[in-house]
Amino acid sequence: MKEEAKLTVGGKTYKLPVITGSEGERAIDISKLRKETGLVTLDPGFVNTANCRSNITFVDGEKGILRYRGIPVEQLAEHSSFVETAYLLINGKLPTQKQLNRFSILLNDNSLVHEDMRAFFQNFPRAAHPMGILSSMVNALRAFYPEIPERSDEEEVDITMTRLLSKVRTMAAMSYKIFKGHSLVYPRADFSYPANFLNMMFDSPVKPYTIDEDLVKALNVFWILHADHEQNCSTASVRLVGSARVNLYAAISAGICALWGPLHGGANQAVVQMLNDIHEGGGKLTPFIARAKDKNDPFRLMGFGHRVYKTFDPRGLVMKKICDRVLKKLALEDPLLDIAQRLEEVAIKDEYFVDHDLYPNIDFYSGILLRAMGIPVPMFTVMFAIGRLPGWISQWKESMDNPKWKLERPRQIYIGEKKKDYVPIAER
Ligand code: SDX
Repeated sequence: MKEEAKLTVGGKTYKLPVITGSEGERAIDISKLRKETGLVTLDPGFVNTANCRSNITFVDGEKGILRYRGIPVEQLAEHSSFVETAYLLINGKLPTQKQLNRFSILLNDNSLVHEDMRAFFQNFPRAAHPMGILSSMVNALRAFYPEIPERSDEEEVDITMTRLLSKVRTMAAMSYKIFKGHSLVYPRADFSYPANFLNMMFDSPVKPYTIDEDLVKALNVFWILHADHEQNCSTASVRLVGSARVNLYAAISAGICALWGPLHGGANQAVVQMLNDIHEGGGKLTPFIARAKDKNDPFRLMGFGHRVYKTFDPRGLVMKKICDRVLKKLALEDPLLDIAQRLEEVAIKDEYFVDHDLYPNIDFYSGILLRAMGIPVPMFTVMFAIGRLPGWISQWKESMDNPKWKLERPRQIYIGEKKKDYVPIAER
């Protein structure tokens, strides 16, 4: 027997279907609500609203569970690579060796960026934020590469998505080299995806870069942890913009812009800036904890809290381990790590944080890991974007492949002026 919810309004009772997901999540299907009742729902921030059915990523915020296509993120971080995880998210299953080889060859064959795009980079103001450059460059890709024609074959879609995955990594390294005024380093066929990125970032004619397999492993894990996260702000933006049937590049560019925000992907950069401020203030935590709790102060403890996780973010737990490992391997002492660990210890015992279910999220330790790897702070959110790309692409594809897809256009409740006549300017 199908479960139903009953809604009684205006003296009438309506029955609304209740749907249940494969992990037991339940939702009231209100797709016919306005037609049957004349009512819409109001849900600022979509705290209680699902925008789609999806079979890509499952998050249980109460239990701290994250799975990509059913596989726990901890297992992927331990055993998989970012390229294999990207394949899993986009294609729905782990690749065979043959499929992985083909995917890797496609990534390599599409790793160069059109030489004419260098002029784009060179003409950005030096102070331009790398996320602004990245979103512009991804949009500009449409001018250099055709969009996926309607009802194109799988091969065409594959190449376009793989092209984007590969070129975004190259463009990110290019933006860093151009920002430094250094000569560009090109991708190499004999390097893996993460190794190529590190080499393109740090190799130089006067100081050849030596690939450190521990850093390659750490970067693989960093990107696996960021690869997808159901309907977060930037993914929901990719779906919303994509629903207007714009090309993939424009939809991804919208996702990059949403991720840029300090409450979302920009938090990894904001965490390090906050830890730096604490360090420069003599390492005192109390003033920052007090400000975070002060209702009249907009300051938030960066890297803490989450819309979905009401316990530890499973990704943050893995990130902290990788952080410790890399700092030990590089024999680095980072005062910000000590401050972060002290801040976590204090905050998770503090009544306010406990009452508000505020725990460290993925961004709390990720910036410290990136610092240890030599990634400059303005590039932190770009690193998040590269990791999230397969998630955005898989969610865009799922939305485009949905035969019942609809243009996404929310309603509103108007609370403005009632009807009134135009007043000529002479009478105002
Ligand atoms: C990401 O959605 C995703 O999946 C995102 C992400 C992904 O992978 O895509 O996981 C990546 O964006 C992680 C989050 C990174 N952002 C930060 O670390 C910024 C700091 N965190 C907060 O701004 C906040 O926790 C949010 C934005 C992340 C979530 O906030 P919500 O769900 O909108 O909750 P809220 O702002 O309504 O806060 C609820 C209460 C409020 O207090 P009350 O008014 O109810 O008394 O908790 C308080 C808030 O003031 N609160 C905090 C806090 N976060 C929430 N108070 C102090 N410090 C904080 N960090």
